[in-house]
Amino acid sequence: MAEAQPNILFTREAIRRRVDELAGQISRDYAGKELLVVGILNGAFVFMADLIRGLNVPCRVDFVRLASYGCGSVSSGEVRITKDLETSLAGREVLIVEDIVDTGLTLSRLVGVLRERRPASLKVCAFLDKQERRRVPFTADYVGFSIPDRFVVGYGLDYDEQYRFLPDVCVLDQVR
Ligand code: PRP
Repeated sequence: MAEAQPNILFTREAIRRRVDELAGQISRDYAGKELLVVGILNGAFVFMADLIRGLNVPCRVDFVRLASYGCGSVSSGEVRITKDLETSLAGREVLIVEDIVDTGLTLSRLVGVLRERRPASLKVCAFLDKQERRRVPFTADYVGFSIPDRFVVGYGLDYDEQYRFLPDVCVLDQVR
């Protein structure tokens, strides 16, 4: 069987331009404040690394890792924290950074959990948004690109832990 070949959806140049725009918008929105940027492992680490280097406001970083309960690729919607934050959110301006919003289950649950920790504000920046796949309503405050329901890899996104290192976002529809 032929190995799946990824096709480029967003080039590294297009990604750089869009991430710079997002960083500019976030910097304007948080002018005069300090941000706590929370990355969701593993997928968000590439996007987050580029995003924070475009910011003009001071920021701290922290990471959370989640596991969703469910069978195979079907999520039950329950989200368990397997690596928690090490920073208190109380009184901080918190920006969650995620690689992709798909069903919306992960972020809607995580936002609920983190709100209980009384941040001064809590917003979400997602690199990709697959709105067609939503199972629960969820709208990110900042979105890099809205995409159709295609299986994408690269720039941090994986298929079975492969392809995260690709600098471009590629379509890998053959796996569906
Ligand atoms: C992916 C992605 C989001 C989540 C989005 O994570 O990084 O966290 O799924 O899906 P949802 O909107 O349907 O909840 P995954 O569990 O694949 O882990 P990873 O970040 O390590 O790739």
